[in-house]
Amino acid sequence: MDIIFYHSSFHPQKWVEGLQALLPDARVRQWTPGDKQHADYALVRQPPEEMLKGRRDLKAVFALGAGVDDILSQLRQHPDLLAPNVPLFRLEDTGMALQMQEYALYHVLGWFRRFTDYQQQKQQACWQHLPAYPRESFTIGILGAGVLGRSVAECMKAWGFPVRCWSRTPKAMSGVTSFYGNDQLPDFLSGTQVLINLLPNTPQTVGIINRELMSQLKSQAFILNLARGAHLVEEDLLAALDAGEVKAAALDVFVTEPLDQQHPFWQHPDIAITPHNAAVTLPEEAMRYIAAGIAQCEKGETPAGRVDLSRGY
Ligand SMILES: NC(=O)c1ccc[n+]([C@@H]2O[C@H](COP(=O)([O-])OP(=O)(O)OC[C@H]3O[C@@H](n4cnc5c(N)ncnc54)[C@H](OP(=O)(O)O)[C@@H]3O)[C@@H](O)[C@H]2O)c1
Repeated sequence: MDIIFYHSSFHPQKWVEGLQALLPDARVRQWTPGDKQHADYALVRQPPEEMLKGRRDLKAVFALGAGVDDILSQLRQHPDLLAPNVPLFRLEDTGMALQMQEYALYHVLGWFRRFTDYQQQKQQACWQHLPAYPRESFTIGILGAGVLGRSVAECMKAWGFPVRCWSRTPKAMSGVTSFYGNDQLPDFLSGTQVLINLLPNTPQTVGIINRELMSQLKSQAFILNLARGAHLVEEDLLAALDAGEVKAAALDVFVTEPLDQQHPFWQHPDIAITPHNAAVTLPEEAMRYIAAGIAQCEKGETPAGRVDLSRGY
């Protein structure tokens, strides 16, 4: 069995050696341009077109992240990139769910307990109590109720916040109110104080966090974008902050990454920024997950995380 690996920034030797140790009967190699040798499995992130194109012998492709928007957008441009019937799998959780919980909880508590406001007061040496938010109306609304959205919902619930989520299909989650489909989006938004985005980037979700959506949130709402920069209309966020509709935002992802040095977000006092690392791929967990997936494929089983190409996630 032959496995090829390509990632534009991960250390290839670590991955090739790690996978080789987990799959001793396989031959694992780093894919480099010009390599057209046989491969049964490809492990990829933003693969060059020539890596996958024309490979009729592939049994499966494993994406090295939770999101597959990069490879699916390549597929839309080059439909022959993947031979029909070659399944694409993505990482489900592999340690990312806990990282998302940590990230979301840090900001939600910072806003709820007004630590961010007190930090701003400190700049003026201002000693003043601010009114507390009532917990029962500090509702957390999560866009996306998949692997990561559900995990963040459970965490928020454990801290006693009212939690609601919005997805394509209805969900049954104890203590979490489920909204689904475009028809229920306005109701979901109108009760949301903190909007946490964990949607996949698809043609249906691109630009979803726009001025119209933000105007439907509870007044002085907070926005946490943990999914993809393409979901947020950046100039609309600035306008909503200026208008006082949105009180603050924490952004991990941006339309253009790295974020341009001149981008107004950098100087904005009510926008927190991290460099797209809310939840990173943890090599050991990811390698174990993929090795187990390959073993399942070899037995004729279908591992978890199969991407529905027509749905886009
Ligand atoms: N910033 C980072 O460091 C980082 C790290 C990892 C992942 N991410 C991002 O997080 C995203 C979510 O990951 P995940 O593993 O939770 O994905 P997932 O399990 O596929 O969940 C996606 C959720 O979005 C919902 N959804 C999709 N399209 C929708 C639509 N048009 N309308 C309403 N709901 C829709 C799905 O609804 P159904 O359940 O009804 O199908 C599902 O609940 C990834 O795609 C990735 O872009 C970011």
